[in-house]
Amino acid sequence: MTEGMVAKGLQDVVVDDTWICKIIGDVGKLYYYGYSIHDLAEKCSYEEVVFLLLKGKLPNKTELEQVTGDLKQARGLPKEVTDVIRGAPKGSIPMDVLRTAASALALTDAKPNDDSPEGRYRKAIRMVALFPEIVAADYRLRRGEQPVAANPKLNHAANFLYLLHGKEPGADAARTMDVALVLHAEHDFNASTFTARVIAATMSDMYSAITGAVGALKGPLHGGANEGVIKTLLEIGEPAKIKPWLTEKFKEKNFRLMGFGHRVYKTLDPRAIVLKKYSKKTGEERGTTKWYEMSNEIEGMMKGREKPLYPNVDFYSASTYFMMGLPPEIYTPIFAVARVVGWCAHVIEQQTHNRLIRPAAEYHGEIDKPFVEIGAR
Ligand code: ACO
Repeated sequence: MTEGMVAKGLQDVVVDDTWICKIIGDVGKLYYYGYSIHDLAEKCSYEEVVFLLLKGKLPNKTELEQVTGDLKQARGLPKEVTDVIRGAPKGSIPMDVLRTAASALALTDAKPNDDSPEGRYRKAIRMVALFPEIVAADYRLRRGEQPVAANPKLNHAANFLYLLHGKEPGADAARTMDVALVLHAEHDFNASTFTARVIAATMSDMYSAITGAVGALKGPLHGGANEGVIKTLLEIGEPAKIKPWLTEKFKEKNFRLMGFGHRVYKTLDPRAIVLKKYSKKTGEERGTTKWYEMSNEIEGMMKGREKPLYPNVDFYSASTYFMMGLPPEIYTPIFAVARVVGWCAHVIEQQTHNRLIRPAAEYHGEIDKPFVEIGAR
């Protein structure tokens, strides 16, 4: 067969030019518009990164005020979208609710197909501003609580925690969320971003592209892995059980340890390095570093294997969020809250330099088979 001739999973296939993000997988480097992820995570707010990704440069003070104001002005979920969330059957998966509500945002935009530069920026800001409100409204409603309105005093990350819990977060929690949002904001042609670009390349609208991206992110091989990580840690339960648990699991055919491995990074994911610090710090603040310690031990074991595996971004975000008191089902939605700006930046880039994305496939069936009438089959 011609298996070797196809680029299975499009691995290493360069499909387009981009100016947004660069990953150097062999040495674990990640840049947004040329800026190292370490600098951005330690020194920038999410609002600065939103401006960077949508405008291609870091904002000065006036521009930062402008983008912060734009984000605040775009807050306020339309009633129709809240009603969609309220109407979700009990037990719906939060990512399914987010995907449906993201699609509903298009119905409440007077100009969903405005593809002028201003129109694209407005739609991107609107989705960045409203994704936290969707996730938080769903979070509260499934707990029997009413959604709360955004708090105009708070920045994007702190406001997200406020929307979830209905009270102002402490400075540490707000900063940790800010860092997590920055780290997850962008990652070149990953599966969900590529999905968004494929949809955008048909010159469909930005809402359709982002809705598709949410669906792609949900999968456990992509953004869904962070929920899998905490479930794994909870299932293992105790440090003493790590080794026997892993030994048993790795006997299973096709077993995948969530939060490990990456298509592009062949060493530590730089985002995991930052999140590891926050996992430890948040654990210390909350009075237990158990989940951090267990994660650290698993990391050591996986690195020591004959075929080493390294943690990706989802590994230490899980114990960080858990220590922040957040339940597993919201981890992938948090990823989407952060990544929506990266998706929007790619939709804009795709449509600015567009060519329809339409790959080819290696067909293995027969052709020109004699047609058999239904009665003779
Ligand atoms: N656990 C166990 N084995 C693994 C893992 C893992 N997490 N990741 C890779 N491998 C092994 C595979 O079994 C395979 O082994 P083989 O060569 O003996 O058959 C080898 O490593 C290569 O794996 P592929 O699936 O071909 O690598 P690919 O680049 O396609 O996969 C992926 C990348 C999907 C992320 C994979 O590492 C994985 O499934 N990880 C677990 C899920 C996860 O954490 N996803 C989040 C990724 S980051 C993100 O999307 C935000």
